[in-house]
Amino acid sequence: MSGIIELNRNELSYPPPANVIEAARKSLQGVNRYATIREIGELKRALSNYCGAAEESVFVASGVEILLGQLLQLFSRRGGIVIIDPTFFIIARVAESLGTKVLKVRLTTPSFSLPLEPLIDEARSAALVVIDSPNNPTGRLLLDRGSIRRLCESSSGVLLVDESYYEFADFSVIDMVKDYTNLIVTRTMSKAFGLAGLKVGYMAAGEAVLRDLSSLEVALRPTTPSACAAVAALKDIKYMTNNVALVSEERERVSREASAMGVEVYPSSTNFLLMRTSQANAARKLKERGVVVFDPSNQFPSQFIRVSIGTPEENDIFLSSLKEILAME
Ligand SMILES: Cc1ncc(COP(=O)(O)O)c(C=O)c1O
Repeated sequence: MSGIIELNRNELSYPPPANVIEAARKSLQGVNRYATIREIGELKRALSNYCGAAEESVFVASGVEILLGQLLQLFSRRGGIVIIDPTFFIIARVAESLGTKVLKVRLTTPSFSLPLEPLIDEARSAALVVIDSPNNPTGRLLLDRGSIRRLCESSSGVLLVDESYYEFADFSVIDMVKDYTNLIVTRTMSKAFGLAGLKVGYMAAGEAVLRDLSSLEVALRPTTPSACAAVAALKDIKYMTNNVALVSEERERVSREASAMGVEVYPSSTNFLLMRTSQANAARKLKERGVVVFDPSNQFPSQFIRVSIGTPEENDIFLSSLKEILAME
């Protein structure tokens, strides 16, 4: 392997299987037309089947990022927003751009757990509470069913749980959407399914939220190649679960080996690891060696890095570069 390796965007390092590529390719012949209701309907059905939420509660979009943006915008017109800190940087960036009151609830150090009671207090009067669980950048699963129940029952607003890394955690609260009309769960096919370049995201939500977003339903739809590839990917769940198992195994190996070098590695339920090294500007030093990791220095001291789990070969290069920078004066 030569050149730069990119372990900074939490992508899957494995390409999609042939049937997924073929489905996208085949659909290209018809891209003079917009995606049809039939194609989008088929995707919704396949997603409903996969996630267990009722088909009428599933909303599809070209990625979760755009959905998060629209939901933040929608609820910011109704009142304050509560986010956690740290969180997926897009959530913080969009929330702060909306001109509404944004309250940040800091995860409790050293383990980055969710301070539930303070969060419940703040959530009571907020229009929207957004929690990515598993959390980016810490990798930690933050919510259990009990905390969802308490948050939904005590809040007058809506709770948005972003489960973009669900498959790596193997824990979901998406089934609770049918019990709580103020719960929204978002998920993506950019991570475990390895379709980041096609941007397919979805959410399960109650009737009122779906009605509020209905005017944007057509504008937010995935493209035809994205929808067709996603449907094909959902027919081959085994391919995805094998990759998730591979990534999870590698994650534990990288964690073990980095820990043995004296690096503090945080437990993760995702396809990435948050680490605290002994080196200032660790991300920059790795980049100088051709390994690009996410630099979370706007949220943490510059000793921290967030590294995506790649192929075993990519992970080996990361580990040897890490070893090199740790040996620096
Ligand atoms: C928590 C979280 N949500 C959403 C996304 C983006 O998802 P999508 O590619 O579907 O826009 C990411 C990507 O890194 C993420 O970390």
